[in-house]
Amino acid sequence: MPPVMVAGKRCFNIAPLSGPFGARITGLDFTRFSGEALFKVIEAALLEHQVLVFRDLGLDERQQITLSRYFGDIQEHVLSQYRGVDPGIFVISNLDRDGRPTGEHPDPGAMIWHTDGSWSHRTGAITMLYALQIPSEGGDTLFADMYTAYDELDNATRSRIANMTAVHDLNDSRRRSGARVQMTAEQRAAAPPVEHPIVRVHPATGRTALYLGEHAAYAAGMPEAEGRALVADLNERATAPQLIYRHRWRRRDLVMWDNRCVLHRATPFDTAHESRVLRRTTVLEPFMEEVEPAMVANL
Ligand code: SIN
Repeated sequence: MPPVMVAGKRCFNIAPLSGPFGARITGLDFTRFSGEALFKVIEAALLEHQVLVFRDLGLDERQQITLSRYFGDIQEHVLSQYRGVDPGIFVISNLDRDGRPTGEHPDPGAMIWHTDGSWSHRTGAITMLYALQIPSEGGDTLFADMYTAYDELDNATRSRIANMTAVHDLNDSRRRSGARVQMTAEQRAAAPPVEHPIVRVHPATGRTALYLGEHAAYAAGMPEAEGRALVADLNERATAPQLIYRHRWRRRDLVMWDNRCVLHRATPFDTAHESRVLRRTTVLEPFMEEVEPAMVANL
């Protein structure tokens, strides 16, 4: 592919990943390019490819916040124990204060398929994850394509779920994921269960995607066990091997993904002997009241 230009200058190279979707970006130097023009070409690439892998990028905390802000408001996560010095930074680390591996995964909730912030009224649009320390084996991140997941559903299932909502509940998904530290009463009050359509039209691409993952506890409007079984069945179909890109991390990778059309999850690693430290920012969608009526009308 020809290099992507910004203001007449070669900015970065982009090439498809080896998996079913996603693209790799090389050659970008944030000290040479910044501002609206850079953000626009990155956004266009993300909308086309759903997941972008930036290789060998020196990205400090301030630059990650600046890049994230171009896309919108940054989430300050309700699980405040993960927040960095800047409340918009979410730190994923298995190290203790002295930098030694603790033997525990920092967030078992990250190891089940999910889309960031679906447990919130205002959901996550774009996540950026930057690798500071990476284990020699494992600790990959998997991504599943929710456009194709929807496209591959049979017509009967599509009609059945067209106007359905699912109840997303962070407290419930943390209990199911076996997280050692459960939510405090205050955190539960700040993140009560919310409903979102199971099928959504992406506001920027106009493409239809499934919107579920394991934060979705059950489909509403039917007995809870039936609603849970429906969500489990759709999640299983949506994460079939042929829909997945596996990212094997290198230090200084930045991976950016579009939560409106992908699910993701982390894979295990040796938490007792290896280090895995990642810095995350999540940009929020506009308030859903502004978006959902148009989405539903389009179906
Ligand atoms: C996340 O769920 O946002 C983090 C995924 C990972 O740790 O690979």
